Amino acid sequence: MSKWRNSFVFAFGLAIALLVGWVVFPRVLYSHKHQPLDFLHKTHAEKSGVADCAECHTIREDGTFAGLPAVEKCAGCHSERVGESKAEAILVDSYIKPGHDTPWLVYARQPANVWFSHAIHVKRANLSCTECHSTYGESDRVRVYEVNRISGYSRDIWGHSMSRLRSAPHEGMKMSDCENCHKQRNVEVGCLGCHQ
Ligand code: HEC
Ligand code: HEC
Ligand code: HEC
Ligand code: HEC
Ligand code: HEC
Repeated sequence: MSKWRNSFVFAFGLAIALLVGWVVFPRVLYSHKHQPLDFLHKTHAEKSGVADCAECHTIREDGTFAGLPAVEKCAGCHSERVGESKAEAILVDSYIKPGHDTPWLVYARQPANVWFSHAIHVKRANLSCTECHSTYGESDRVRVYEVNRISGYSRDIWGHSMSRLRSAPHEGMKMSDCENCHKQRNVEVGCLGCHQ
């Protein structure tokens, strides 16, 4: 009789532990922020005629990465509203007309002590953007940005999987994830290669 009770208590305790580990812990660990406005890659690929990633995310001649486009890049088409969306109204009224850059939150942002070069990975190693960013370049919705309350880093560094079982770099980009790919491809980078 008491054996059954013990099993029941154990199963109940296990269920609570799993619930806390997988559901409650991530909610407590990460706080949520929203992008300043809903920019969709999909609309731009279909309607604006600029589909080439390099139009907005340029790797310059000197190898540095321009990152996210400055607001002047958008002003070429959005100096006045061209559609009916609320997101575009925010862009035009709050950023383009006053000449303020849009304060985008960068999901992939690494801590300041990490040095990462797009030119080395995209041009020299010929990796595609999707390898590390999945299909975000075709986004039809804006992701919520999650901040780790302990480290202050974006959730994309530790990744979204609580078990940390991963098969691709875009599922998380901790030091071990950079190094796994380097190991697979026989790339040797010393500490000071990534921490300049
Ligand atoms: C018209 C300009 C434009 C074009 C073309 C464009 N992007 Fe973007 N991209 C943006 C803007 C603006 C953001 C910031 C808003 C956001 O995060 O959704 C962004 C954000 C991103 C991010 C998120 C980076 C991060 O970690 O926060 C990735 C990845 C990205 N773009 C990849 C691509 C890829 C791949 C392509 C080509 C298939 C592409 N983009 C084409 C304007 C553009
Ligand atoms: C080559 C022209 C062009 C450029 C450059 C451009 N856009 Fe657009 N954008 C469009 C068109 C066309 C639409 C579709 C308007 C509609 O039908 O609502 C659009 C729609 C939008 C919308 C409405 C929501 C959505 O994405 O569907 C937002 C917000 C927006 N653009 C932001 C931006 C930002 C931010 C930049 C600069 C990084 C930018 N655009 C650069 C042409 C452009
Ligand atoms: C090997 C992995 C990898 C590949 C391939 C890659 N990225 Fe990234 N990307 C990153 C990392 C890591 C960061 C964060 C860099 C940092 O914080 O210094 C990043 C940041 C970005 C950002 C935000 C930049 C900023 O600092 O504002 C954009 C936009 C972006 N990548 C677009 C692209 C596009 C477009 C391509 C393809 C041409 C691409 N990435 C290919 C790993 C990669
Ligand atoms: C998907 C695979 C992949 C991922 C993920 C990746 N790298 Fe790399 N990385 C490479 C390859 C391949 C090279 C070799 C480039 C070459 O020389 O052709 C490289 C080279 C480098 C180099 C240059 C070494 C030199 O020759 O000077 C640095 C620095 C570097 N990576 C840092 C990083 C950091 C930091 C991260 C994580 C944020 C990262 N990498 C993630 C594939 C990757
Ligand atoms: C391939 C690139 C790469 C190499 C090589 C590398 N690191 Fe890192 N390291 C990273 C990245 C990316 C992070 C940030 C993400 C994280 O916390 O895992 C990091 C984080 C760290 C941190 C934690 C700091 C923090 O903010 O969490 C320490 C300490 C560190 N590295 C030390 C080292 C030492 C020592 C070596 C040499 C034995 C080394 N790293 C080699 C990419 C690298």
